[in-house]
Amino acid sequence: MGIGKQALFFTMLLIALVEAAMSTTDSKDKVDKFVISPTKTIVRIYNKLGEGLNLTIHCKSKDDDLGVSTVAYNSYFYWKFRVNFLGTTLFFCGLSWRDASGVFDMYKAKRDMKRCPTRCNWEAQKDLVQGLRQGDNVHDMAFNWTYKT
Ligand SMILES: *[C@@H]1O[C@H](CO)[C@@H](O)[C@H](O)[C@H]1NC(C)=O
Ligand SMILES: *[C@@H]1O[C@H](CO)[C@@H](O)[C@H](O)[C@H]1NC(C)=O
Repeated sequence: MGIGKQALFFTMLLIALVEAAMSTTDSKDKVDKFVISPTKTIVRIYNKLGEGLNLTIHCKSKDDDLGVSTVAYNSYFYWKFRVNFLGTTLFFCGLSWRDASGVFDMYKAKRDMKRCPTRCNWEAQKDLVQGLRQGDNVHDMAFNWTYKT
């Protein structure tokens, strides 16, 4: 590591420590302990399954359990966080409806920091779960449901 990079590293570390010290007591805000991102990222999972179909969502990271939510058709579940200092932030969610389910990585810093820096939207549809890229809203990711036999 060159001297310039080292100085940058320690400056960023200092910012992270100051931010951590100033972080509020709102538990949904301090999802990670050491943070450098100037902006928060919001992830939304929309229920686009169809009229009368509920979607059950249970998201977690290594340190946080966001609990179980039931989301009605055309509504969404969301959470906000800052990408952690090491860029290792990962949230995975168990989604289920009727006899379909799946556990998917729904925010992964290495994958998503560029594709959706502040707004990451997902749509749970009957045939698959689709991810939308921020900016042009192109459906650039898809996960399949697993069905109970
Ligand atoms: C959907 O969820 C709501 C709220 O939890 C519940 O009242 C309703 O009965 C559910 N509908 C179905 C079809 O399961
Ligand atoms: C999802 O299912 C489709 C067709 O059923 C298949 O072509 C595709 O490869 C599957 N994707 C994954 C990630 O398994």
